[in-house]
Amino acid sequence: MNLSGRHVISIADFTRDDILHILKRAREMEGRRDDEPLRGRLMGTLFFEPSTRTRLSFEAAMLKLGGRVMGFSDPGSSSAKKGESLADTIRMVERYADVIVMRHPRDGAARLAAELSRVPVINGGDGSNQHPTQTFLDLYTISRLFPQLISGGGLTVAFAGDLRYGRTVHSLISALCHFGGRIITVAPRGLELPPQYEAEAKAHGITVEAVPTLADAIPLCDVMYMTRLQEERFPDPLEFDHIKQTYRVTAAMLKHARPEMRILHPLPRVNEIAADVDATAHAHYFTQAANGIPVRQAILALVLGAV
Ligand code: CP
Repeated sequence: MNLSGRHVISIADFTRDDILHILKRAREMEGRRDDEPLRGRLMGTLFFEPSTRTRLSFEAAMLKLGGRVMGFSDPGSSSAKKGESLADTIRMVERYADVIVMRHPRDGAARLAAELSRVPVINGGDGSNQHPTQTFLDLYTISRLFPQLISGGGLTVAFAGDLRYGRTVHSLISALCHFGGRIITVAPRGLELPPQYEAEAKAHGITVEAVPTLADAIPLCDVMYMTRLQEERFPDPLEFDHIKQTYRVTAAMLKHARPEMRILHPLPRVNEIAADVDATAHAHYFTQAANGIPVRQAILALVLGAV
């Protein structure tokens, strides 16, 4: 399978075979030592929004493969501050770099960049739309925990929190359509999963069931995928204070979980996972974030034609 020169914009652009190929290459990256297939290649990182994991794990991945990195993490330090358009920024950086990783607040910005760029563009998150490399690392993490994901064993994945604007949720639900199973949703009123994602899952034979509370979801799932609630989504601060206490997993609540159940979170977390959960066997979000390195190594090496 040849992914050389491909843009990585939406999970919908990848077949089940593409996904499995990326996961296999990521596994191989874990054992890889002392060779530098991307020596002489340059990655440009254009982060128009804050990031810790996506930017730093892409940079770590590129450096580990012998490549080099340049870019900005704050658009205020770029000519965007002077009014330069995204299109012109891309027209310049595609002349400087061999691959571009971009995060942007606007839905569709990554697709626009890909249409203008002769070098591969990798979407590091666009608005509330997609975050495909997060999804590859989420699938990698789930498949390492539950190999039956790949063999069609039908996992139950619960999604909790901001399901309306959460781009990691949207990408992962689209990807799970390739693997079957069951989806449970828990969301505050107004932040429910948009109907098109529910329809997409159902069209692929996945059961989607909304439950009212985290306590309802915990005993039912193999994976609990938590997401952050953003205060600005709530016009009433009192409502936000109430909801944020309701959407909080604590270690005590997990006594009703299956022993093998694991909690994932794209991070950063704010209030939705209590610190006492970190010491339980259910906490898996830091390992999940660490998996970003081999997965992004695989993606960079594949789109640059080095594996
Ligand atoms: N998961 C994720 O996208 O984290 P960052 O916002 O820190 O990149």
